[in-house]
Amino acid sequence: ATPFIITLDGPAGVGKSTLAKQLADHFEIAYLDTGAMFRATAWKLGEGSWNWDSSRIEEALKSFSFTLSGSGSNSVLSLNGVPLTNDIRTETVGMWASNVAKIPAVRAFQKIAQRKIGETTSLIAEGRDMGTVIFPQAPCKFFLDADLEERARRRFSQLEEMGKPADMSELLDQIKARDDQDRNRKEAPLKAADDAIIVDTTTLDIDGVFEKLVAEAKKIS
Ligand code: C5P
Repeated sequence: ATPFIITLDGPAGVGKSTLAKQLADHFEIAYLDTGAMFRATAWKLGEGSWNWDSSRIEEALKSFSFTLSGSGSNSVLSLNGVPLTNDIRTETVGMWASNVAKIPAVRAFQKIAQRKIGETTSLIAEGRDMGTVIFPQAPCKFFLDADLEERARRRFSQLEEMGKPADMSELLDQIKARDDQDRNRKEAPLKAADDAIIVDTTTLDIDGVFEKLVAEAKKIS
C-alpha cells in the first residue's frame, strides 16, 4: 500500500515533537523528526559551515546518509548508521540548524532524503515545510502555533527534563530569533500549507491538542 503521511509543522517549542510521537504511537506508524536531520547536519558540518560556498557544502553532504528505523515513539533516526543523540537538542545547535537550513544545497539534500523515507514508510512528518514543500500531497496536514512566551516556557521545561537547563529570558530571545529567521528565509519558509488545519495551542494542554488532532486525522484516513 502507498504510505500514509500526516504532516505536522509549526514554530519552535510549540509541542510538535511530543505530539508527533503520541500520534505515531496511536496510528502505529513511524515518526520523522526533520528538525533533527537539520540539527545533525549542522552539528556534523560544524560551526561556521553556513558560510561555506555551496560546492564545499555539496561535497560534504555526499557522505551523509540518513535512515529511519523503528515505529511510533521508538522511531530512530540515524546519520551514517549512528543514532542521533540529545547532543543536538540545545538551542545553540537549534540556531546552527536554522543557519544551515537557509542554504539551498542543504534543503535540496534534505528534500531528497526525506521524500525517500516517505516513499516506503507511513509517517508523522514533523518540521517547518512538511505540508508546503516536502509532502504537499499528504492527505492530512496540521500546523500548530502558540504565543512566543508559552513556547519558551514549554521549551524551558523540555530542556530541563533533558538535564540541559536554560535561562528563560535568553531562551525567549533565541526562539524568537530562530523563528524570525525560519519565517523570513527565501526557501521553504515556516508557514502553514493552504490546506493545513491550524491549531492554536496557547491555552490547550497536550492531551487536548492530541485528541483534536486524532479526531481530525480519523476523518481523513
Ligand atoms: O524542529 P527543530 O527545532 O529541531 O528544528 C531546528 C531547525 O531546523 C529549525 O529552526 C529550522 O531552521 C530547521 N528546519 C527546517 N525545516 C524543517 C525542520 C527544521 O528548516 N522541516
